[in-house]
Amino acid sequence: MALDRRSAIVTGAAGGIGAAIAQRMLEEGLNVVVTDIEERRLDEVAAGLRTQYPNRVIAFAADANRDDHIGSVIDGASAAFGFPDVYIANAGVLNGFGLETDEASWDTAWAVNVMSHVRAARRLVPRWLEASAGGCFVSTASAAGLLTQLGSPVYSATKHATVAFAEWLAATYGDRGIQVCCLCPMGVRTSMLEEPADAGGDVSLGLAAISHAGEVVTPLSVADALIDALQSQRFLALPHTEVAAMYANKAADPDRWLAGMHRYRRTLDNEATEHTDAFGR
Ligand SMILES: NC(=O)c1ccc[n+]([C@@H]2O[C@H](COP(=O)([O-])OP(=O)(O)OC[C@H]3O[C@@H](n4cnc5c(N)ncnc54)[C@H](O)[C@@H]3O)[C@@H](O)[C@H]2O)c1
Repeated sequence: MALDRRSAIVTGAAGGIGAAIAQRMLEEGLNVVVTDIEERRLDEVAAGLRTQYPNRVIAFAADANRDDHIGSVIDGASAAFGFPDVYIANAGVLNGFGLETDEASWDTAWAVNVMSHVRAARRLVPRWLEASAGGCFVSTASAAGLLTQLGSPVYSATKHATVAFAEWLAATYGDRGIQVCCLCPMGVRTSMLEEPADAGGDVSLGLAAISHAGEVVTPLSVADALIDALQSQRFLALPHTEVAAMYANKAADPDRWLAGMHRYRRTLDNEATEHTDAFGR
């Protein structure tokens, strides 16, 4: 069954999960607008998609967090394909390791991981409420938004906020023609998990926590899980199905869940000198 939609905007689409979602949306028959702050990589992704889908892909270099940029992307998408009826808020940052993280890193993460979604929804939802076909808003959060992210208080807190905003959107508009879906993967093989050569301490802990928690999956398999959740009208898209049980266990007994996190953190600390990253290095 194809997604019954016309066109999608995908943010953070210059690689990784965003590029994979753009690919799958095209396969589902939608026209796609890819956007990212990284212009050169974005153009490469768009050129690759256009070889398969000529005339159905446009690209805009834009900051997903800036309200004026969001407006320009929506205007450009509307001019090419009509008012977009799917928005994939996928741009994100994994930063801010350790309690000593500075204010600027917190500000960046709040802006990209949370406020970019709020600003886009503010522009789109009123128009979708007026339209008979409604619209669809996808938030790429993370399993860290349901559980936690060892090593990064910033990613943990902001991705929880991503989930919270998506839940609020779904609770408020989900029965009024707006479909909301929240994508919460664990480890995915993208540049986000590449460990800097000089990493140590909480950075290494954070990246090891992601790559040891479960299988590190491909971006296309994450896009497949999203398509499945959209077609099944599920709010949560969980590419790692075990996250559902982890989330339920956390809710059922938070103290037991925290004791498990303490054990997991100590295990990673002990292995820190010999761990491999998400790419098996
Ligand atoms: N890779 C993982 O293990 C993993 C797991 C769970 C969730 N996620 C989430 O998936 C999403 C995509 O990440 P990815 O893994 O594909 O990594 P990625 O680094 O390949 O993609 C993130 C993209 O967001 C873009 N971006 C960052 N700030 C931006 C801004 N202000 N405006 C526009 N674009 C901006 C980057 O240029 C990059 O292309 C993120 O929200 C991330 O938090 C990733």
